[in-house]
Amino acid sequence: MASFEYVTLEKRDGVAVLTVNRPDKLNALNAATIAELDSAVRDVAADEGVRGLLVTGAGQKAFVAGADIAELATMGPLSGVQVSRQGQATFRMLERLPKPVVAAVNGFALGGGLELALACHMRVASSNAKFGLPEVKLGIIPGYGGTLRLPRLVGRGRALELILTGEMIDAAEALRIGLVNRVVEDAARVVEETEALLRKIIGNGPVALAMALEAVDHGMSATVEEAQVLESNLFGLLASTEDMREGMAAFLEKRQAAFEGR
Ligand code: COA
Repeated sequence: MASFEYVTLEKRDGVAVLTVNRPDKLNALNAATIAELDSAVRDVAADEGVRGLLVTGAGQKAFVAGADIAELATMGPLSGVQVSRQGQATFRMLERLPKPVVAAVNGFALGGGLELALACHMRVASSNAKFGLPEVKLGIIPGYGGTLRLPRLVGRGRALELILTGEMIDAAEALRIGLVNRVVEDAARVVEETEALLRKIIGNGPVALAMALEAVDHGMSATVEEAQVLESNLFGLLASTEDMREGMAAFLEKRQAAFEGR
């Protein structure tokens, strides 16, 4: 496995834990961190032993407090486009992983940090987490997919309120608007609870999970007609898998299914 300076990637029993690890800068994403995230996501994609991915931040205070403002401060128009495209590409690759990805948001998730959480398939927050897109306070806009993912998740009005005010919301409000799936009251347990959710998910058929992710990802931007065609084709394709035979046999025999991912 590659060795990293700003992230850690740990694998345990089918789950990979990817941690942004720059706690002295509240895990701010400099270019090197984005590059390492990119490599780590590729590693997870290629590793058949990994069935699900948990993304979190190091330390007690932050998930990720945004893109690295010290680095952004030096950008010009062309490098600005490049910075945005690189982050977009990495986050899109994360979103397109055919394995479930859940963010354990353990503190500030601001700017690029919220955008990283948005690129994950689900979000679990600690009760002390804070969310925001403060870019307009810096004279920029979200550049890692926030302007497209946030309105799709919480609706245009709520997304624009966050994007245009740049203000933060707490975990309870994030739950209320559907920005996060769950809130863990005991903040110290957020990674543990997120891993428990992920393990429940990866107990299901891996091929079915991959197809469900594909159908939803495509369906979010397709017409109803196109999305239905894809859904029925994937549904039919799953009938060719050993996992389907096993899942249905297990139900009929009143036992736990043992999926092989085939
Ligand atoms: N980029 C670069 N450095 C950052 C950073 C970012 N996005 N967020 C925090 N840091 C650094 C701080 O500069 C500070 O570094 P220093 O100790 O070398 O001075 C360190 O992380 C700790 O942050 P600090 O601001 O002292 O903590 P705080 O508890 O007073 O405030 C925040 C926490 C999150 C409210 C504050 O750090 C903040 O507003 N960060 C920027 C958020 C933002 O605008 N993100 C969007 C970027 S596009």
